[in-house]
Amino acid sequence: MSLGLDDLGSYAAADPRGFRELLRGFAGQVADAARLAEGLRLDGGTPRAVVVLGMGGSAVAGDLLQELCHDRAPFAVHVTRGYTVPAWVGADTLAVASSYSGNTEETLAAFAAARARGARGVVVTSGGELGERARRDGILWVRVPPGFPPRAALAYLLVPLVVLLDPTGRALGGAEEREEAVAVLKALGADLAPEVPLAQNPGKELGAWLAGRTPVIYGTDLTAPVAYRWRTQLEENAKVLALSGALPEIDHNAIEAWGGSGAGPWAVIFLRDGAEHPRVARRVGPTRAITEAQVPTREAWARGNGRLARMLSLVLLGDWASYYLAILRGVDPWTAATIEAFKRQMADADAPQEA
Ligand code: F6R
Repeated sequence: MSLGLDDLGSYAAADPRGFRELLRGFAGQVADAARLAEGLRLDGGTPRAVVVLGMGGSAVAGDLLQELCHDRAPFAVHVTRGYTVPAWVGADTLAVASSYSGNTEETLAAFAAARARGARGVVVTSGGELGERARRDGILWVRVPPGFPPRAALAYLLVPLVVLLDPTGRALGGAEEREEAVAVLKALGADLAPEVPLAQNPGKELGAWLAGRTPVIYGTDLTAPVAYRWRTQLEENAKVLALSGALPEIDHNAIEAWGGSGAGPWAVIFLRDGAEHPRVARRVGPTRAITEAQVPTREAWARGNGRLARMLSLVLLGDWASYYLAILRGVDPWTAATIEAFKRQMADADAPQEA
């Protein structure tokens, strides 16, 4: 089955719209996204809290931002998926509406609710209704380029926020970390491209390894939101169900299931990072021993020095692995037909109430 991944002639038929070119462009998208934010300024100084409002691929940018800020930024970051905002949202909050299409009803409703509470706003979108509202109300608009499936526009949804929220580069690593990330992603991208044969290509190898199994992705610290990203990419690109979680939390619940009746068609991947908390790093071996006693288990390691490079290197590996799994399964990685049909169905139902 995996031989097919080395047959370059098969990609045009399996991936007619060229999703692979979007993945191939990831390093360039990170560089481009940073440039896009350079001319933008956040009026009113550093907020006390940031609430990122989004769904699906656009919300993942918020998860990654939250983790990047976790032990560095002087403000709290909270990600909300849904129609409402937490009660503490107010004038000292920055509400970020993250919606690639600009038309996601949950995000539109939550953003309206945040604005009604007096929150400052930023919108990150390619256009749609959110773009219209930004134009109409004079709200700062990070205008991301059109033409991507939302989940493939992650660099554009994340990196401008990192630049905007850290104009001095002191908290989140600044231009130096971004440039390192671009270099790491460029080198890694070259290793993961379809031209590289399976034997030397960790993305193909992982995709083939996951075929016929249900992926279970576990992160650690910085890689916790990346594990969730892998899960959603496996679901949307390869159209397979997947599970995700993170250490140390899973040592307080999931291992009980693994230790009991864990055997089944699962395959476990631990996403590792060289800068894990020493006690988290210490936990991986014994946790892995528990899953490994039941099902195939392996690790994938982050590359690079800075947090952005380490985080995004694992994002890119997961994106390619889900891509190759899609090709092996004969499903189009670009389309998300069920999600789109469901959105249309909801749009035909009663419109949501907004604040
Ligand atoms: C599709 C995808 C979805 C969308 C989600 C929200 O590629 O990733 O998870 O991100 O349906 O739509 P947007 O991002 O347009 O707000």
